[in-house]
Amino acid sequence: MIFESHAHYDDEAFDLDRDELLGKCQEQGIEYIVNVSASLDSVKTTLALAQRYPFVYAAVGVHPDEVGGLDEESFAWLKEQCASPKTVAVGEIGLDYYWDKEDHELQKYWFQRQLALAKELELPIIVHSREACADTLEEIKKAHTPELRGVIHCFSYSPETAQEYLEMGYYIGIGGVVTFKNAKKLKEVVKLVPVERILLETDCPYLAPEPNRGKRNSSLNLPYVAAAIAELKGVDTDEVIRITNENAKKLYFRKKQAILQD
Ligand code: NI
Repeated sequence: MIFESHAHYDDEAFDLDRDELLGKCQEQGIEYIVNVSASLDSVKTTLALAQRYPFVYAAVGVHPDEVGGLDEESFAWLKEQCASPKTVAVGEIGLDYYWDKEDHELQKYWFQRQLALAKELELPIIVHSREACADTLEEIKKAHTPELRGVIHCFSYSPETAQEYLEMGYYIGIGGVVTFKNAKKLKEVVKLVPVERILLETDCPYLAPEPNRGKRNSSLNLPYVAAAIAELKGVDTDEVIRITNENAKKLYFRKKQAILQD
């Protein structure tokens, strides 16, 4: 059974066949899906999805491109949404200097506020970082405590940077890019990172793996990602699927399990 650790099924790309597709995901071995919000609006649509489908969980947070919409009032509202029984993470949060839509200092400010929120609520973080390698590492180091856990989603940096995140206890999110011929750096990262620290993700509707590159992505493509990782690690695809499923459950459901056991 596959754990999809990062999807955007509330995206309009799925408006015509969302029910059918999510039904198919369940039939074809996708055990759980974490739907990740990026804007205040998508926090609402993500939680609505999680309420509708028992196997879909929610990450609540505001993407660096969208932090211009945050203020104290909306941030208080965001915190309330973290109390939903289906919320399992704060995300996606981070820095994006590629699209560069918001001032860097503003991005850092709301990244720190959301990191603090995750720590306060004991939720893991889902980090988005694009062309902001040094600053993201610096901001995370500022906020880091041994209790803070999370995943660096759609990892796009060097093996040395991956090593720094591993040493702090973070997971590395690997998706469709690992199947691309020109993804040499990411393949080196996957060789370095133990399977025990990898999460499978699509970031769908984006970044479909080969042989479906360029098409709309969905969790049904995750076996291609698992197979590419398995080849690089020299293990069976089933092993990659089994271990990454355990990893995601440990990360996202740790607090829920603790509550159930109480
Ligand atoms: Ni995403």
